[in-house]
Amino acid sequence: MDDGFDQSPSMMKADIETITSLAKRRGFVFPSAEIYGGFAAAYDYGPLGVELKRNIREQWWKSMVDERDDVVGLEAAIISNPAVWKAAGHLDAFNDPLVECLDCQARFREDHLADESPDGSCPSCPGTQGFTTPKQFNMMLSTIVGPVSDESGRAYMRPETAQGMFVNFSQVQSTMRKRLPFGIAQIGKSFRNEITVKQFIFRTREFEQMEMEFFCYPEDSDEWYEYWKTKRLDWYHSIGIRSEHLRLRAHDPEELSHYSSGTTDIEVHFPWGWGELEGIANRGNYDLTQHADHSGQKLTYFDQDRNEHIVPHVIEPAAGVDRIFLTLLLDAYDEEKVGEDTRTVLRLSPKIAPVNVAVLPLSRNEKLTPTARNVMDVLRSQFKAQYDDAQSIGRRYRRQDEIGTPLCITVDFETMEDDAVTIRNRDTMAQERVPISGLIDACKHNLEAMTVEK
Ligand code: GAP
Repeated sequence: MDDGFDQSPSMMKADIETITSLAKRRGFVFPSAEIYGGFAAAYDYGPLGVELKRNIREQWWKSMVDERDDVVGLEAAIISNPAVWKAAGHLDAFNDPLVECLDCQARFREDHLADESPDGSCPSCPGTQGFTTPKQFNMMLSTIVGPVSDESGRAYMRPETAQGMFVNFSQVQSTMRKRLPFGIAQIGKSFRNEITVKQFIFRTREFEQMEMEFFCYPEDSDEWYEYWKTKRLDWYHSIGIRSEHLRLRAHDPEELSHYSSGTTDIEVHFPWGWGELEGIANRGNYDLTQHADHSGQKLTYFDQDRNEHIVPHVIEPAAGVDRIFLTLLLDAYDEEKVGEDTRTVLRLSPKIAPVNVAVLPLSRNEKLTPTARNVMDVLRSQFKAQYDDAQSIGRRYRRQDEIGTPLCITVDFETMEDDAVTIRNRDTMAQERVPISGLIDACKHNLEAMTVEK
């Protein structure tokens, strides 16, 4: 579980307010149900946010499942048998330390207090000192399932996707005829009743996880732990996040979650300090053993060569989609002087950008529109394309820069004469004239050149 922040100054070019405002203004993320005044730390992803999120999921799935023979997918129920959470230890041990201000009764996570108020006074009524002694607050969000509204229907919204992989271990292993080592991957929503929610989408009560449980021989677990740390850090570079914004940090023994014998976080240098992006944990045989004990079912792997039953050990890379989303916006944000103006540009990798090519006819009129529409039809078969003919061309370039579109295709009056269009590069603003017949290849070439590992 993530914790407080190391507060050394970040090299990100934007602060969280700038990113929150851009995300809202450009249709990435809105405060949830804003017409009713919003809802604490709940957010709705807008049209561009949806595309960006899909790209994050697709890149993760490609790297973790599609490109491997040893990992398969799963989609488990969000609300399942409460026995899962008893066995997994979450009902008893998934707690954060809660304190209450003696004066205004506002509640805080004790281990976050130092970050929120360095002088030790109450963050809600500054100047006041004094809190209750910490008590353990369980973070599971619960609901009542079925028509009877009493405790017999109490069930829990999963606080991690991981348990779905453990309770289905034997089914997946036998139906897919998997031999050790192999992994089960899942993407989906998780819920935690966080005491403090802050920093936009960094910590919310409803969020999305991408987790993979990698089952291996116990004696190989150290090696796989090292393997997954490197593999996961490389993945962040492959989607364009700069290496100087990332680091690996091993947990101290007292920080470890109840199930973990070793965890390393991939951390980001957020504007407020280093913070967790993803955790890679060595869960040992904790979960399979717990579920076998509580369910009375055998959750072992029969090794034919050794002729013995084994309880595999598990290495788990666990990432959060929303945190990756926030990291990508912060990392990609740039401002630069262009003449008298300042240009805002999101230097997102083409693998991640919500729009890859924008088709911008110089103006909306009966001569240009049909040709521009034809160009759009050609491009949308190959790329995520957007058509925009409102406002001046300069303002449309700025808008596309601000949402991170790598290429803008301009259709102008010369196009009527030479069957060619202009490609404008987001990063260099360089323009290149290209025949429409060669446009797809030219876009592919440009997008490839802009997909650099960092
Ligand atoms: N199964 C292990 C597990 O859940 P975790 O470190 O608690 O580990 C994994 O969570 C990732 O999920 C975190 O690194 C973070 O990206 C994301 N995450 C956790 N709590 C979150 C929250 N309240 N809001 C947004 N993302 C969260």
